[in-house]
Amino acid sequence: MSETLEHVASRARTDAPPAILLDKVNKWFGALHVLRDVSLNVALGERVVICGPSGSGKSTTIRCINRLETHQEGRIVVNGIELSDDVKALDDIRREVGMVFQSFNLFPHLTILENCTLAPIWVRRMPKKQAEELAMEYLARVRIPEQAKKYPGQLSGGQQQRVAIARALCMKPKIMLFDEPTSALDPEMIKEVLDTMVSLAEDGMTMICVTHEMGFARTVADRVVFMDRGEIVEMGTPTQVFENPQTERLQLFLSQILRGH
Ligand SMILES: Nc1ncnc2c1ncn2[C@@H]1O[C@H](COP(=O)(O)OP(=O)(O)OP(=O)(O)O)[C@@H](O)[C@H]1O
Ligand SMILES: [Mg+2]
Repeated sequence: MSETLEHVASRARTDAPPAILLDKVNKWFGALHVLRDVSLNVALGERVVICGPSGSGKSTTIRCINRLETHQEGRIVVNGIELSDDVKALDDIRREVGMVFQSFNLFPHLTILENCTLAPIWVRRMPKKQAEELAMEYLARVRIPEQAKKYPGQLSGGQQQRVAIARALCMKPKIMLFDEPTSALDPEMIKEVLDTMVSLAEDGMTMICVTHEMGFARTVADRVVFMDRGEIVEMGTPTQVFENPQTERLQLFLSQILRGH
């Protein structure tokens, strides 16, 4: 996204309880301390972009939010529910949180439509016809309704990623987590996926997105979080973080990603 877009007006609801709260979260993989006192409050309707060098803990942070990884210290509260070993609580949280990964993770042996209706039918117990109508609505939303009968292998990477987004939306999540959704895509397909995400932001979806797409961050992020070595090092508006970095670590990171683009 090279053109400068108008910043999408903030939908953050500071009057409501936070959608996501991380309070001094610590996590280790064996002896490796990968999250260090990570604290972050995400308001309902807020859009947060996380950036930082490889290995800094970005994926681990968002994977802890829907408990694809478990944290060892601190608290994580999603939509008012604290993450714990309680299976019922976890089900409730996963129902509200959609996740889109770098690799699209579609089922190759199912059609696009079947990929989108699987969870609504089996998890939400939705009648098949209703699930199909819903799936078609979201496939239209990501502008590929004509692909519904095809298999993932017959679609481009950008189209597959839009299916992955539609599939997540079919569960009607309150929160969407994105982990570098465009980094496996060819440049000409990045924009179509980012445009889909911008339109979600315009609708007021609460979003956390790990990405290094600065144009996207400037357009939609209410806040940008910079992580390095398991810590949140800086956090602020896109202008504060990108134009006025306070730490050497962030200055170095920005100079490296600017060189890379
Ligand atoms: N399952 C795992 N087992 C052991 N170590 C892991 C595991 N997953 C991640 N790590 C380590 O945890 C640290 C943080 O990894 P993480 O994937 O969160 O980084 P990242 O910021 O998302 O990096 P990238 O930009 O490369 O995706 C890294 O040192 C990584 O090697
Ligand atoms: Mg990662």
